[in-house]
Amino acid sequence: MASAQFFFCLAVLLAGTAASAQAKHSQCLDNPPNMSLRGGEAGVVVNDLPGGFRAYVTGAASSSHAIVLASDVFGFEAPLLRKIADNVSEAGYFVVVPDFFNGDYLDSSKNLTEWLMLHSPVKAAQDAKPLFAALKKEGKSIGVGGYCWGGKFSVEVAKTNDDVKVICISHPYSVTADDMKDVKCPIEILGGQYDSSTPPKLMYQFVHIPYYAKIFPGVAHGFACRYNTTDPFAVKTAKQALDLMIDWFDKYLK
Ligand SMILES: *[C@@H]1O[C@H](CO)[C@@H](O)[C@H](O)[C@H]1NC(C)=O
Ligand SMILES: *[C@@H]1O[C@H](CO)[C@@H](O)[C@H](O)[C@H]1NC(C)=O
Ligand SMILES: *[C@@H]1O[C@H](CO)[C@@H](O)[C@H](O)[C@H]1NC(C)=O
Ligand SMILES: *[C@@H]1O[C@H](CO)[C@@H](O)[C@H](O)[C@H]1NC(C)=O
Repeated sequence: MASAQFFFCLAVLLAGTAASAQAKHSQCLDNPPNMSLRGGEAGVVVNDLPGGFRAYVTGAASSSHAIVLASDVFGFEAPLLRKIADNVSEAGYFVVVPDFFNGDYLDSSKNLTEWLMLHSPVKAAQDAKPLFAALKKEGKSIGVGGYCWGGKFSVEVAKTNDDVKVICISHPYSVTADDMKDVKCPIEILGGQYDSSTPPKLMYQFVHIPYYAKIFPGVAHGFACRYNTTDPFAVKTAKQALDLMIDWFDKYLK
């Protein structure tokens, strides 16, 4: 990708990154999806995609561009994630949101460490190879967008799968600076000022890799896909993140 124009831009330079005093608490489980926001979905659930995945699919299957959206720990049924998928499809993409967890979503009754052993994003990136291969065989150029767990999944894909041309990760979980060294395609990273999973000080460690990054002020982990729909600031921030992701995909896939 040497010829591509990458750039790094920390849109918000934070004076003091005094983010997380609540060290042990994982924000990955904060603000779970509100299922009463379900409705008006443009897509459908299909059961037998290559790789054996059930998935929410939306947009024109005939499109020559495909986006795979990788969910957070709450899985592919989250209403706001499906709305995001519908919006991406309106930009001309065939969008696939796989159920990577076979319905076994994380909730506060489960142990995060044990759940992650059952649902490793690293393994999922390997398991998804047939899905990406099938999309490529259909002549589609492919991008991946990931949230939290799906951010780690996306980075693993970008390290190991040449079928994927571009990724965008929002408030990723457990992505490291070492991961960044092995990413082989353009990556956009959208972080939150108060995200304790990927705090600004970790975002800064990604800085030597050429990519685009932005830290949104005043928001925590989950801001891009689990926002409070009655809070105008949260809605506006999530929309900005969505628009940046779509612009990023447009830049490298169209
Ligand atoms: C869930 O969404 C409904 C419908 O918009 C709303 O009335 C309710 O307050 C929401 N619940 C939470 C916990 O945000
Ligand atoms: C979660 O599981 C891990 C591994 O089995 C264990 O070490 C840890 O204590 C558990 N955490 C809680 C809060 O139960
Ligand atoms: C959502 O935002 C509204 C408006 O700012 C606020 O009153 C409400 O408490 C928030 N809900 C949650 C669950 O944080
Ligand atoms: C999704 O697209 C619709 C129609 O263009 C728009 O009204 C809505 O605000 C968008 N949603 C988000 C979260 O940007």
